Amino acid sequence: MWKGRFTQDTSSLVQQFGESVSYDWRLFPHDIAGSIAHARAQCKAGFLTEEEFSAIEAGLLAIRADIEAGQFEFKTSLEDIHMNIESELTKRIGAAGAKLHTARSRNDQVATDTRLYCRAQVDSLVEGLRGLQRALLDRAEVYADSVMPGYTHLQRGQPVTAGHHFLAYVEMLERDVSRLLDARKRLNISPLGSGALAGSTINLDRHAIASELGFDGVTTNSMDAIADRDYIAEILFAIALCGVHLSRLSEDLILWCSAEFGFAALADAHTTGSSLMPQKKNPDVCELTRGKTGRLVGNLVAILTAIKGLPLTYNRDLQEDKEPLFDSIDTLHLALAVNTEMILALTLREEICATAAADPMLLATDLADYLVKKGVPFRQAHELVGKAVAEAIASKTPLNELNLSRISPHYGNDTAEIFQLTRALNARTNPGCPNPRIVREQIARWQKQLHG
Ligand code: ARG
Repeated sequence: MWKGRFTQDTSSLVQQFGESVSYDWRLFPHDIAGSIAHARAQCKAGFLTEEEFSAIEAGLLAIRADIEAGQFEFKTSLEDIHMNIESELTKRIGAAGAKLHTARSRNDQVATDTRLYCRAQVDSLVEGLRGLQRALLDRAEVYADSVMPGYTHLQRGQPVTAGHHFLAYVEMLERDVSRLLDARKRLNISPLGSGALAGSTINLDRHAIASELGFDGVTTNSMDAIADRDYIAEILFAIALCGVHLSRLSEDLILWCSAEFGFAALADAHTTGSSLMPQKKNPDVCELTRGKTGRLVGNLVAILTAIKGLPLTYNRDLQEDKEPLFDSIDTLHLALAVNTEMILALTLREEICATAAADPMLLATDLADYLVKKGVPFRQAHELVGKAVAEAIASKTPLNELNLSRISPHYGNDTAEIFQLTRALNARTNPGCPNPRIVREQIARWQKQLHG
């Protein structure tokens, strides 16, 4: 493609080192859409005849069909997807193909293709996230009233419902959706027409090209447009954080499925056995989800590090943006799909959860609240209940069976009801609390939003 000023062929090691077609081939539908829009603009501006444009369009569509059918031979000697397609086009249609690259550089071409690819992937990741949200919502509904202990420091804290716990992840994933859609707004503008870095003396209609490709507008600085990979960093961040969320969910499930907790069971289809220990049923999907999060975070660090030292505008370093991008997108797609399937088949062992939540110690805070309602300052109430807790532990007596009025005259003969779990949950009437009525309201709200 640049033979004019060179007298030697590219070394085969350089080819091997520099080729990207082995992975950027997947940009092909976007590369072809971009080229057709670019050719149409050239035709309108009088640089291609109608016949030439038609030949280019038909040639590109035929190449696309061949690639889709697995009948296209990619050549690493042609470096990347852009040159593979352009050279094949020229081979097939002749002279008109050689005009396609007028007023365009691979620099604005690759930026265009990558933005289009990111836009499509954001949309399908959002679909994947919606699927997992629906699965979690399904479990929240089934186990809306199932009580279980809520934890801080992995120590039993206060009672909650499983419905509330599942909805916590629905909320988290909603922020992931919103981050991806926010990134989508910024990435959906067309860099085509920025040329190598400084536009072109051949002025094609950038707005027409942009609207044909479904972009919301055009970039307004050719140098920034060529150098910009913020959209990749943003997507990789949104994916990394989503991975962190899935990893936390995995950790909860790993704990729940241990013999020590015994709160939940995963389906056989979503667990693996041990080649040695016949009794084992391992939560590998959760562990792999947790483990793969390392890759997602690594990919974000890779792109930020690749960009940080680059002068404007294009530098070949930017070719290193694609593998981390593709890897994170592929990894998250699969993680979302498998987690969706696994969550839908998860069963909660409700009696074990209920037994764990029945520990009266979990309502020690409610007992302090009781004293506050009797006029005791909270710090003092906390101390009084702390003493009762110590006594319960020392005398091996359940907290609700202690003679509390011996500890303080502030305790009346109405403390028994404080230890009724249902009452305790229902007493939390503020928005956001694990009161089963409020949890059901939230479930209804999510139903509308996710199943609409
Ligand atoms: N394969 C290249 C990349 O992904 C395309 C742009 C090449 N531009 C250049 N001036 N060498 O970055």
